Amino acid sequence: MISLVPYTTFAVQAMAQRILHITDPKQIPFGSKSDALILGGGSNILFLKDYPGIILKNEIKGRQIIHETAEEVIIKFGAGEIWHEVVLWTLAQSYGGLQNLSLIPGTIGAAPIQNIGAYGVEFKEVFYSLEAYSMDSGRYLLMTSEDCRFGYRDSIFKHALKNKVFISSVSLRLTKTKHRIDTAYGAIETALRTRGIVQPTIHDISSVVSSIRKSKLPDPEHLPNAGSFFKNPVVSLAIANEISKQYPELKVYPIADPNKVKLSAAWLIDQCNWKGQRRGTVGVYAKHALILVNYGQATGADVWDLAGAIIRSVQQKFGIELEAEVTLI
Ligand code: FAD
Ligand code: EPU
Repeated sequence: MISLVPYTTFAVQAMAQRILHITDPKQIPFGSKSDALILGGGSNILFLKDYPGIILKNEIKGRQIIHETAEEVIIKFGAGEIWHEVVLWTLAQSYGGLQNLSLIPGTIGAAPIQNIGAYGVEFKEVFYSLEAYSMDSGRYLLMTSEDCRFGYRDSIFKHALKNKVFISSVSLRLTKTKHRIDTAYGAIETALRTRGIVQPTIHDISSVVSSIRKSKLPDPEHLPNAGSFFKNPVVSLAIANEISKQYPELKVYPIADPNKVKLSAAWLIDQCNWKGQRRGTVGVYAKHALILVNYGQATGADVWDLAGAIIRSVQQKFGIELEAEVTLI
């Protein structure tokens, strides 16, 4: 048995039978679907108990330009490349597309799983294709955006293909000219104004996003966590209007479906006075109500007990059921 503490950013106490370090797709064991779990950087996972099977730790590296024109470039990355290192490398080549997604922890191979998103941009907007090894058939699938069925913090890898495929490479389509500069997220606009930047470059956007993130998210090295613990709930307009009657300050964000809106889970939890509360080894981060933290020797069950209490109080006050964003094992 081996301790999983160093393998997840939540650093909860749990053990696994064995860890295989996968540096080449050929090492992925065939037919291992029943007892193997794929792990990248462990930044979106919570072990609720010991894991009886084998962990496949994705360490497949590599970067290769597979298509290039004067305007754009398509680059294939080994799925074990670290996301933020990929972001920095693309910025150093002056390729645009990843700037708003700066400083998100984890591997590029896990980015499609929940279609990572931040500061007005989602992964699906830069995605070109991926290769996934089917642990059912032993064959490779080449998947397009349509195949992946990306949604808000969602994809086919959380449903029909859950634990069935090992994503071994991810290709991105990035711009070489006419970069899309996305400053709509309020905090970006404010930060640019403070810095006196009127026409931001992709490097400026990356820099302000990184400093906003550093100012409000805890560094897992110092305070173990997995980022947002819950998804922002998507509800019908009718439900949002009903809640707004009693709570006019309710945070409501439009989404593509005109009949639905996204609410701020952080705001809902904050209204239930959870921010900064501590229960033994776990707690709710003092600067952001959506982040649960491990103060030391916590187990996954300790975290989940706290999450359950939060879910119940938000349900009681607003009638809304929060859903975990973090993968529970
Ligand atoms: P892991 O946690 O190792 O795995 C997550 C899930 O993906 C597991 O189910 C695992 O089995 C599966 N998986 C991993 N790799 C593969 C693969 N190669 N093939 C098949 N399945 C695989 N997320 C955002 O979207 N936006 C944010 O702004 C954001 N901010 C964060 C801030 C902090 C401080 C932290 C700690 C996390 C944050 N996250 C954010 C969550 C996390 O960084 C992302 O979900 C990231 O993509 C997880 O990558 P990982 O390699 O650590 O995945
Ligand atoms: N808010 C509160 N109380 C708090 C914190 C925030 O009321 O304690 C309010 C803020 O006032 C703000 C709103 O909630 O108006 C939204 O807050 P924030 O901008 O921090 O974004 P978020 O909705 O909490 C989402 C993602 C983050 C991503 C940021 C930036 C989800 C579940 N989370 O957080 O992703 O970095 O937007 O785009 O969608 C993650 O997935 O792990 C993650 C960190």
